[in-house]
Amino acid sequence: MTKFTVNDRPVQYRLDPATPLLWALRDASNLTGTKYGCGNGDCGACMVVVDGEAIRSCLVSIAEVEGRYVTTIEALSRDRSHPVQQAFVAEQAVQCGFCTPGMIIAASVLLRKNSDPSDAEIDAAIRNLCRCGTHPRVRAAIKRAGR
Ligand code: FES
Repeated sequence: MTKFTVNDRPVQYRLDPATPLLWALRDASNLTGTKYGCGNGDCGACMVVVDGEAIRSCLVSIAEVEGRYVTTIEALSRDRSHPVQQAFVAEQAVQCGFCTPGMIIAASVLLRKNSDPSDAEIDAAIRNLCRCGTHPRVRAAIKRAGR
């Protein structure tokens, strides 16, 4: 049995310890805000926060997060929209929206460390792919959220 914390709640999974965290979250916990894009660590659609760092959950097994704290996109808007989510709406930084949860997770971690990131710092931190080409608006949303 693998035990860790997801969105402030203890979880126990009777899954193969090698199961990717992404699938435990989506299939066993029904936290489907975390998206499956590439499964190879390239797109960032599957990003979650583990102990304060944004990680690609398709690349991490549940055994690797044993005893750790995982936060998914669902936790960011538990009571009301997170400031990063509000900024994404205000800047219309969403087109199809598939990449958005991962973008918001990565942005929230960046802004916790640096509330006034430069364009270069945003580009370095947000390596997520968006086929709709929203990156300029995402950059604007991150700057807005940092204000
Ligand atoms: Fe994990 Fe693309 S699904 S990086």
